[in-house]
Amino acid sequence: MPFSDDLWARTTGHDGPVRAHMAFFGSWLRRPLRVAALAPSGRPLARLITDWIEPGAGPVLELGAGTGAFTAELLAKGVAAKDIHVIEMDDRLAEVLSERFPEVQVTVANATSLSRDAFPTVREFAAAISGLPVLALSAPEQIRILSGVFRRMGPGGALYQFTYGPRCPFSAQVLARLGLRGQRVGGVVRNLPPASVYRISRHVSPPTITAIDDDVAAGPPTT
Ligand SMILES: C[S@@+](CC[C@H](N)C(=O)[O-])C[C@H]1O[C@@H](n2cnc3c(N)ncnc32)[C@H](O)[C@@H]1O
Repeated sequence: MPFSDDLWARTTGHDGPVRAHMAFFGSWLRRPLRVAALAPSGRPLARLITDWIEPGAGPVLELGAGTGAFTAELLAKGVAAKDIHVIEMDDRLAEVLSERFPEVQVTVANATSLSRDAFPTVREFAAAISGLPVLALSAPEQIRILSGVFRRMGPGGALYQFTYGPRCPFSAQVLARLGLRGQRVGGVVRNLPPASVYRISRHVSPPTITAIDDDVAAGPPTT
């Protein structure tokens, strides 16, 4: 899989890709279901999943960053490092991330247990991206992740999630229960394996009726 060595060189100024590949592969050996890929995502997928993130719109949350294929792309498109908050559960990968992106906030944590007081400096996120292996997560784990993310998501904000599967990786029941919906927003054939990106967002509530029809407001005719 094409890992963006060029992007790595530009974000670090030194030759780290080999170490990153080794760290990623080592992490896969330790926890194959949690890493769920043999190598980091390629740049076409990184470009697609970050396509809807607007630099300057506010803090961005990244879940399951691995060695930072998406983080590098966020920076390349102009998102400030101070606005990027990464959650990665593998401590060795988190070390690689901190070394590669010293100004990005990297937290070693499980995305299924984000506490209410995580991210003390963030009021709300403008958007989130995720490389989490959702298909390997149980429904209760999915609920905990989505509740934690959308508790802190600003109005109109969305979570972008990639998958190698043929449909939205979050279960339809989980999404319905949380008042969320998943829409496929694009795909990348030039990724091994090919991947799709889904936007997870809040359902727009039906509009509240505020206008009162004149006839109704006037009440029944009296004559
Ligand atoms: C498929 S890899 C994706 C890495 C990177 N985003 C990419 O596309 O190259 C999944 C990453 O999610 C991390 N991960 C898996 N489950 C997690 C969880 N519950 N909380 C935080 N990170 C998790 C793994 O350690 C791994 O780095």
